[in-house]
Amino acid sequence: TASANDKPGNDAMIRRDLASLYEDIRESLGKSQATLTPIAQYYFDGEGKAIRPMITMCLAKAINCHLNQISSDMIEKQKKVAQVVEMIHTASLVHDDVIDLAESRRNKSSANVVWGQKRSIVAGDFVVGRAIEICAAMQSDPVFELITKMVADLVNGELMQLDGSATEDERFAHYLEKTFKKTASLIAYSCQSVSVLAGADSSLQNIAFQFGRQLGMAFQLVDDVLDFVATSAQLGKPAAADLRLGLATAPVLFAAHKFPELNPLIQRRFNQPGDVETAFYLVHRSDGLQRTKELASQYCDDAVTKLAHLSPSSYQQILYTLTHELLNRMK
Ligand code: FPP
Ligand code: MG
Ligand code: MG
Repeated sequence: TASANDKPGNDAMIRRDLASLYEDIRESLGKSQATLTPIAQYYFDGEGKAIRPMITMCLAKAINCHLNQISSDMIEKQKKVAQVVEMIHTASLVHDDVIDLAESRRNKSSANVVWGQKRSIVAGDFVVGRAIEICAAMQSDPVFELITKMVADLVNGELMQLDGSATEDERFAHYLEKTFKKTASLIAYSCQSVSVLAGADSSLQNIAFQFGRQLGMAFQLVDDVLDFVATSAQLGKPAAADLRLGLATAPVLFAAHKFPELNPLIQRRFNQPGDVETAFYLVHRSDGLQRTKELASQYCDDAVTKLAHLSPSSYQQILYTLTHELLNRMK
């Protein structure tokens, strides 16, 4: 419901640019082994929120307006970036569900449940491979470099989360760095990529990158709040999952300021009987959820100040709305 896609009027222009997104992706995944294609295409059924392609194309258009760029060849390449980003994101989720032993995603059984772990891993790899191929065909060295950095960040972010063993002092910085790599880098690098294609100089590229970064940070912070407050039916994926996976996200880290007894639980990754329940209870009794929302709100404010560097356009307006909706989303 919170999907910006179905708000009439608000972003009809962008919807036109993304109309063939999933069809294009399915097509690029079509020519492979018969057993691989259905798994690889599984999540590209048009039911996704396509939030990353939406942000990418909206920012692309806002930058194109800013620079008076109207080349249709360039816009086609920017659409490819949106496509590549959705593919890499989705592939990482297929792998993530294997790692997290998740059984649902987007209100359906996750790929690992339908086809098993081995095939899901291979299918995720295949989607990344095709995405890189599409990227190479764009023949832009800087864009290729940005996309490969994005993939490396995603992998490193996931590893930081798996190995997380920061001391109490380093914990929050570690969490923010992990959050950048795991989530925000994808949006940041895709925003920078479309700006490169528009011919942005390094200072405008930096604005694009920082906008994506701050929005991506806010997005994950909201996700970490939703994990505590939303139901799995609302999310279409397991809720209250982070603690059970041993993960201390912002709400718990803030809660530990008020309830230091959380520290040993965080350290042992909630692996003793009752740890998850105790932490869940203390988070709700603390201001951890509120403070996480406030932090997300600060990141959104910062994203908005980046946007203010661009000349006024309807795309800029859509991005303001999108930023606001993202902060208040329920799923
Ligand atoms: C979802 O997080 C997971 C990610 C944002 C990144 C996962 C990255 C990898 C598995 C590395 C492999 C990367 C590639 C390119 C194939 P989550 O588990 O917190 O969110 P969820 O609630 O949606 O499961
Ligand atoms: Mg997961
Ligand atoms: Mg995960």
